Amino acid sequence: MNLEYLSGFGNEFASEALPGALPVGQNSPQKAPYGLYTELFSGTAFTMVRSEARRTWLYRIQPSANHPAFVKLARQLAGGPLGAVTPNRLRWNPLDVPSEPTDFVDGLVGMVANSALEKPSGISIYHYCANRSMERVFFNADGELLIVPEQGRLRIATELGVLEVEPLEIVVLPRGLKFRVELLDAQARGYVAENHGAPLRLPDLGPIGSNGLANPRDFLTPVAHYEDLKKPTTLVQKFLGELWACELDHSSLNVVAWHGNNVPYKYDLRRFNTLGTVSFDHPDPSIFTVLTSPTSTHGLANLDFVIFPPRWMVAENTFRPPWFHRNLMNEYMGLIQGAYDAKAEGFLPGGASLHSCMSAHGPDGETCTKAINVELAPHKIDNTMAFMFETSQVLRPTQFALECPQLQNTYDACWASLPATFNPNRR
Ligand SMILES: [Fe+2]
Repeated sequence: MNLEYLSGFGNEFASEALPGALPVGQNSPQKAPYGLYTELFSGTAFTMVRSEARRTWLYRIQPSANHPAFVKLARQLAGGPLGAVTPNRLRWNPLDVPSEPTDFVDGLVGMVANSALEKPSGISIYHYCANRSMERVFFNADGELLIVPEQGRLRIATELGVLEVEPLEIVVLPRGLKFRVELLDAQARGYVAENHGAPLRLPDLGPIGSNGLANPRDFLTPVAHYEDLKKPTTLVQKFLGELWACELDHSSLNVVAWHGNNVPYKYDLRRFNTLGTVSFDHPDPSIFTVLTSPTSTHGLANLDFVIFPPRWMVAENTFRPPWFHRNLMNEYMGLIQGAYDAKAEGFLPGGASLHSCMSAHGPDGETCTKAINVELAPHKIDNTMAFMFETSQVLRPTQFALECPQLQNTYDACWASLPATFNPNRR
């Protein structure tokens, strides 16, 4: 199947899998075409300002309301409850893909979170490791999902259509959207940020102007595609952190036509128009923001998704790696491919690091020494794609994240080798 996509961000899209399935001129006619049922799928409160409102009208074979009671599942998400809070810098090696059959939902492992799930803010971060396609359908009542594949291509069948993504692409699934993740390769591994706050959007560009960073036309939304299946299927939801399921006699992915802006989308990180200094100094990493979930405090993000893509380094008379810093924001970093320019070793594709509010960090000793002494010339950082989930509230690791064998117990040592260079007699 050759997939089709609609291009743009925040658009009022319209798509129909059968000609004339979308009602014309009104949302909810007495009789929808083809005997379909009309359903509204809201991603924001009805009264949100128009520029931020998200909702989609669905025309489907069965309304979602046609389901029996959900029953809490015996097998809940891996990772366990949140553990003790720590101000320490933490770093993890990549998780192993399990050998027993594991689909995307069972393969989610909670790592850190900062949210009381009943509050409309905060984020939770998971890694996923899967080795088989989902047969069940899942939706997340707790937030929007930003999926960052690191290994393995995914085919994500959603209520609104089908998306295929591969490493170096990302996908965003609105809160409550039903979907099934199928594997296109033997195994899949990656990262998920669950955004409990305002839906992700493109950042404002300020003096950059009307182009640059992630451009709207590179965001792709699927066209309508439905399953008219009469066979038992399991529908799973996550509600306040717990998994519940019910059995249906039909597929939940049965939307024949839809229109609106509360939609799933994918984006190829290789299309990011990376901007940086052409004179001196290392810009703030906010210059690399792909998507942002704002809070009610202007300029303070609930979640920023920031990438560190291949780019030219040309700054003159400049310490070119990220400077040493202590920030208000809490930074959870991952690596999709290659190496990250601030670390010589220990930060691996599929691994992660956590630098919490006011924790001091920056390039490791080896990177720092090299950067101070290197003869500066234009230099391309290639074969790399690191990223950061950055959030304004402190992230607490799960019990799993604090106890797993992948937690490195020597991370602090990477700064211990910083040489003593101070000499009061040599300016
Ligand atoms: Fe940082």
